[in-house]
Amino acid sequence: MALTQAGSTGDHWSSRSAFILAAVGAAVGLGNIWRFPTLAGENGGGAFVLVYIGFVILLGLPLVLSEILLGRAGGEDAIGSVRNVAVHSKRSELWKGVGALQILAGFLILSFYSVVAGWVINYVFVAGEDWFGALFSGAPFSVAFAGETQEQITGRMGDLFASPGKLILLHAIFMGATIWIVASGVSDGIEKAAKWLMPTFFVLLVIVTTYGAFTGEFAQAVKFLFTPDFSKLNPIALNEALGQALFSLSLAAGGLLTYGAYITRDVNLAPTAAMIAVADTLVAILAGLMIFPIVFAVGLDPAAGPALIFQTLPIAFSSMPAGSLIGLVFFVLIFFAALTSSISLLEGPTAWVIDRFRIRRPIAAIMVGLVAFGIGVICALGYNILSDVRPLAFWDVFAENDILDALDGVTGKIMLPLGAFLVAIFTGWMADRRLIEQQTGLDGGMFMLWRFLVAWLCPIAVGLVLLLGLVPGLLGD
Ligand code: PHE
Repeated sequence: MALTQAGSTGDHWSSRSAFILAAVGAAVGLGNIWRFPTLAGENGGGAFVLVYIGFVILLGLPLVLSEILLGRAGGEDAIGSVRNVAVHSKRSELWKGVGALQILAGFLILSFYSVVAGWVINYVFVAGEDWFGALFSGAPFSVAFAGETQEQITGRMGDLFASPGKLILLHAIFMGATIWIVASGVSDGIEKAAKWLMPTFFVLLVIVTTYGAFTGEFAQAVKFLFTPDFSKLNPIALNEALGQALFSLSLAAGGLLTYGAYITRDVNLAPTAAMIAVADTLVAILAGLMIFPIVFAVGLDPAAGPALIFQTLPIAFSSMPAGSLIGLVFFVLIFFAALTSSISLLEGPTAWVIDRFRIRRPIAAIMVGLVAFGIGVICALGYNILSDVRPLAFWDVFAENDILDALDGVTGKIMLPLGAFLVAIFTGWMADRRLIEQQTGLDGGMFMLWRFLVAWLCPIAVGLVLLLGLVPGLLGD
């Protein structure tokens, strides 16, 4: 059976570079700038970073290639594509469940991702307020953060969390923007957004990193990020590093499978996959090199957890030269990164709804976005009205998590590794070997190496880390 050429929604990227920008845009997001430094900080720095990079090269990169090639070979939404390849390979249609699991994971991630992105928008306003104000009134700059006490700055996050209305409004603004871009289409929406936002993002990233290098404790940050202390590693940290590698590369969340379907036949997938993985990892490391010099400059704790960029950094900005302007640039940059990622999270389920129910793209995007918005609202309420709720109290690993953390935990620690494991088994063992070989564009030794990583290393390593992370007592510690 010949597989279809185009996504059944009929969409295509206009060029290879358009796809790369969109896929790098999907990969680079809150994961790189909020989650990666947070996890590296909590897990002692160097050793975590090293394991993370190892996971990206040995597991992430081969899986990125697997997903985009399955998408292109299948030519539909995530579920349809896996089904098409399964049928072509004379395997059970039930393998389409891999696509379903991914779409569900992406959808759930979208719902809390948008809430966190809402916090970012809040800080864009906070940092920008006085700058914009001064611009219009001609008054001298009196800037946010500067001259504020630590209590005032940390208190701001508390105030935000205590206000359901504000959290929900910000979440609505972000989800609205996401829906609008996805509703506009693949080349008129997603591609255009990536084309503008990603280059701007890179320029801003370089500006803030350079600033940190000159005004902050750059050497200390380099030491923190690159001197491994292996005593800090435990099964939970391994599980976290893997979950982060998958999350950051946008693996197992339907986005890459879906974006893959819009790639034309002439594109060579292997180098494209490599570019995505390299760009994503560079940005994560640059984000670390941007954030930690600033944190260390004012003697703050790198292990501050999720509050790192919302409380710790603003404290640092308050006492650094031009800190509040840099603060503004910093939060705008995160906002751009988050937006190009959330559109890929929404595109997965939206493409499925378009294919499955034959409805128009804007309607599908609005429907999916609204349901995800609703789940996000519950996450936002988890910081105030529902702050006592621990949805997974019965499960050791997640017992302490509030609603948003529980969703983040279940998707990152279970659904993504499981999804990646299944993709590895499917591409490595189930899919028609000739079809796969043709799609990779790899020859001889490189194909063997890739196949080995996908068929053997990925399932074993991902399976093991999944197990160890979920059953913390397994190693007796
Ligand atoms: N990779 C994105 C980030 O790092 C998040 C994401 C996950 C996007 C899965 C799409 C799919 O922020």
